[in-house]
Amino acid sequence: MEEEKKQHRLLLMASPLEGHMTPLLNLAHILFSKGFSVTILHTLFNSPDPNSYPHFSFHTIPDGLSEADTLDAVHLTDLINIRCAHPLKECLPSLLSNSPQPVPCFISDAALHFTQPICDELKLPRLVLRTGGASSFLLFASFPLLREKGYLPVQESRLEEPVVDFPPLKVKDLPKFQSQDPEAFYKLVCRFVEECKASSGVIWNTFEELESAALTKLRQDFSFPLYPIGPFHKSLLTGSASSASLLTPDRSCMSWLDKQEHNSVVYVSFGSIAAISEAEFLEIAWGLANSLQPFLWVIRPGSIRDSEGLEPLPSGFLENLGGRGYIVKWAPQEQVLSHPAVGAFWTHNGWNSTLESICEGVPMICMPCFADQKVNAKYASSVWNVGVQLQNKLERGEVEKTIKKVMVGDGANEIRDNALNLKEKASACLKEGGSSYCFLDSLVSDILSLAS
Ligand code: UDX
Repeated sequence: MEEEKKQHRLLLMASPLEGHMTPLLNLAHILFSKGFSVTILHTLFNSPDPNSYPHFSFHTIPDGLSEADTLDAVHLTDLINIRCAHPLKECLPSLLSNSPQPVPCFISDAALHFTQPICDELKLPRLVLRTGGASSFLLFASFPLLREKGYLPVQESRLEEPVVDFPPLKVKDLPKFQSQDPEAFYKLVCRFVEECKASSGVIWNTFEELESAALTKLRQDFSFPLYPIGPFHKSLLTGSASSASLLTPDRSCMSWLDKQEHNSVVYVSFGSIAAISEAEFLEIAWGLANSLQPFLWVIRPGSIRDSEGLEPLPSGFLENLGGRGYIVKWAPQEQVLSHPAVGAFWTHNGWNSTLESICEGVPMICMPCFADQKVNAKYASSVWNVGVQLQNKLERGEVEKTIKKVMVGDGANEIRDNALNLKEKASACLKEGGSSYCFLDSLVSDILSLAS
């Protein structure tokens, strides 16, 4: 019924990676709530379940991907950019002409750069969704300059050198990807930045008060409009589209959390892609055990290299902790972070996790792995001062020390206060008159003006 009242339809195309799909579906919900009909275009690989979104239409773009193609995120994204181009070109004209409502624009993930030339050909304006932060995008946009100045590719001998023009970043904080082909990451980034420049604007899952310096610089350097309208998951009255999760969350951990003291639990999760070695896994396990804090640990299938599940854990490990540790394959992360028992989030600093932690005022233990995560971790620990980076090697003594620093150390209260302040800002920006609220209004009116 609602669908019939809507005047315009938006086509949104998602990247199939978890950390990209969830924010795109959340954005779709936000735009739906603003009066637009929504069609989601998606690859066959990791396709969302239409039954979970009865108010959206769905359209599959054949991707020709095999299981082996999906192991490396850069390779996967490159393949999607190549293999989905022809099918999208074929179906887009009929999606436009068969739409019951006019389609003012196409919205696609920044990583799907192939969509820009296709939209250009059809004279269909494209808006970009950048699912990462603005500060890391600024770095991505400066890749050619960073290479010219010799900062990229990152050299082991220069890790502690400050990156001039990008304080407080050091060379070790620059984005990198452990791809089969490191040059492929550089090329992908340069290409998606170029196609952002050709777009009609970029929508960001961030907020002005969090990344004002980066957003100001982006406005100076680029002519495309910026719409920082995040945090998406908090702007939805009905909660987020986290049912976009590709794995089923194990909710049993919530009743375990209910039994823990306030601010006592370390929640440990490294997102949907990062993987660690068996040796690192054991250092984490012993570091958590020795910290004497309760912990909730997400061990995703496939997240320990060369291991199927929990077999590397010493036998009786959890039992010997007397209920102080709880392990799940996948957690309802947003609910976990909002639980009063959670006192810190040991995270890989994927942008969604970083933002979700900020929104709940939870201090972070930062252990970035790749891509934008190192930049996010540096901002969390040294700019917003809401976390501590795990320094040096991933080693049990270091883990124990860092957990204590964040949970009970001298600076712990200050970090917690900063986190609570930032939480308030994240909430205020969505209220009437707040920055994200106003940018969303401009986004909606700009989309409508594209239609006329
Ligand atoms: C990837 C990249 O790694 C990251 O650098 C980039 O910023 C986004 O894409 P990912 O590794 O999946 O993201 O991390 P993140 O961005 O943090 O997203 C993970 C999502 O999975 C979060 O929304 C989180 O709430 C959810 N999650 C994670 C769960 O719902 N349950 C879990 O147990 C773990």
